[in-house]
Amino acid sequence: MKAEIGFEIERAKEILKSGGLVAIPTETVYGLAANGFDGQAVARIFLAKNRPNFNPLILHVADIGAAKSLTKDWPPLATRLAEAFWPGPLTLLLPRSKKVPDLVTAGSPLVAVRMPSHPLALSLLATLDFPLAAPSANPSGYISPTSPQHVFEQLGDQIPYILDGGHTTVGIESTIIGFSEEGAALLYRLGGQDIAAIEAITGPLAPAKKENHKPATPGRLERHYAPLTSFELGKIDQLIPQFKEKRIGILSFSKERPNVDSVHQRILSVDGDTVEAAHNLFRMMRELDALDLDVILAEKAPDQGLGPAINDRLHRASYDSRI
Ligand code: TXA
Ligand code: MG
Repeated sequence: MKAEIGFEIERAKEILKSGGLVAIPTETVYGLAANGFDGQAVARIFLAKNRPNFNPLILHVADIGAAKSLTKDWPPLATRLAEAFWPGPLTLLLPRSKKVPDLVTAGSPLVAVRMPSHPLALSLLATLDFPLAAPSANPSGYISPTSPQHVFEQLGDQIPYILDGGHTTVGIESTIIGFSEEGAALLYRLGGQDIAAIEAITGPLAPAKKENHKPATPGRLERHYAPLTSFELGKIDQLIPQFKEKRIGILSFSKERPNVDSVHQRILSVDGDTVEAAHNLFRMMRELDALDLDVILAEKAPDQGLGPAINDRLHRASYDSRI
């Protein structure tokens, strides 16, 4: 099988209804979607991605009502967040309804729900009478895809259809927010919805405790979003002399280095804009990864706007699983 890339919502719908997989665009990254009520269809996602089955999936819906119907409890703060940010790059973690298959939540009592802001995804969801379970459409651990071509290159042999929504706009995955027993908002994952806007509604966000995270197995997924090329995060100008004999690539936040071949450099945002940098991050990581370099040197984004979410991805990409 080799995936087709196209714009046909009807085609996507037929495949999904019969239990198959379709890659779908969202504003964050492409998702690998299946009928979220069909345990067998969901199992195919884990197989195609080679994803450990203790790592749960987000359910995508067309509106707030559909999200509520997947949950058992829906605190008032969830309504305020959904009304403020949906459709958009925010995922809410809430107690699950019995309708949700165990495999979707990896046995957790919580389910992750989100209404994506992409016209094609929303049109598709509106024609379905089930939610779409969809993780990012990359092999487990690799960089998330931000274009249909990225999906095709890595999962093209495993799925029949990729719905073409062009390049994603936001470029990094959704921010994930859950709630404490007292109803306070907790931060589970930094992402495309910046924290300052969320905190304007919730007040200061506390990080979710490690034991509430899925997967619970410590350390298993610390290396993530990772290119195949060795990836070093630090002060680029100090790192360059350490790799003198090597073919190096540069993933810079905003400025070009005059002493390195510009073909081997990518600049996330010449204007130093963290939203533009997030949009470019995964595409540029893939481009550098394709250049057959010995090492990619990267530096952190400033700690504002989407900077912390970008830095989270950079840290995981540089995490050395051998030590
Ligand atoms: O922007 C996004 O969120 C993209 C697009 C496709 O929607 N999706 C995405 O899915 O990033 P994925 O599977 O690559 O990452 C989802 C994260 C995982 O880290 C997973 O552990 C967490 O959400 N998650 C999902 N359900 C959960 C649950 N019930 N409890 C705790 N964490 C959960
Ligand atoms: Mg992912």
